[in-house]
Amino acid sequence: MERTLILFKPDAVQRGLCGKLLSRFEEKGLKIVALKFMKITPELAARHYEAHKERPFYPGLVKFMTSSPVVALCLEGNNAIKVCRNLMGATNSAEAAPGTMRGDLGMSRSYNLVHGSDGPEAAVREIGLFFPEGVVAWNASAWNWAYDPVEELPKG
Ligand code: RTP
Ligand code: MG
Repeated sequence: MERTLILFKPDAVQRGLCGKLLSRFEEKGLKIVALKFMKITPELAARHYEAHKERPFYPGLVKFMTSSPVVALCLEGNNAIKVCRNLMGATNSAEAAPGTMRGDLGMSRSYNLVHGSDGPEAAVREIGLFFPEGVVAWNASAWNWAYDPVEELPKG
């Protein structure tokens, strides 16, 4: 089982797309283990995007991400990081494949609706940044039908 940090970015909140985005993740079979509506401070944005600090788009990215509230989520599932990024689609929404969130709902490279951690180390770091209080571990009954319990679910 893997966990990932997902953000519904300010454009998703302003455009009223949070419900639609959350449904897509839930319908796929990902489990919500943390969720909050919040404003990202410049300090949190700087820590979250520290890998991009030298990139030309960095100042605009921090301005965008702190301009309006976001929804922060921690999702859990087998290969959750890759599964979520596949659902989200390519960074540039205009080029993202139809059927993906960005491909179906967006046109922009910078205003691309949703963030997902890009690897296991980033996920642990980002979940700690957005949910220092921890997440909620729980048993999702539906997982016994969304997964093969013998082959794909942890024993016990
Ligand atoms: P994310 O981190 O948001 O999940 O997106 P990503 O991995 O697909 O893209 P990444 O390379 O990590 O870039 C982070 C975010 O910066 C904005 N961006 N703008 N104008 C530009 O050239 C540009 N390039 C990236 C996007 O909001 C991107 O999601
Ligand atoms: Mg990224």
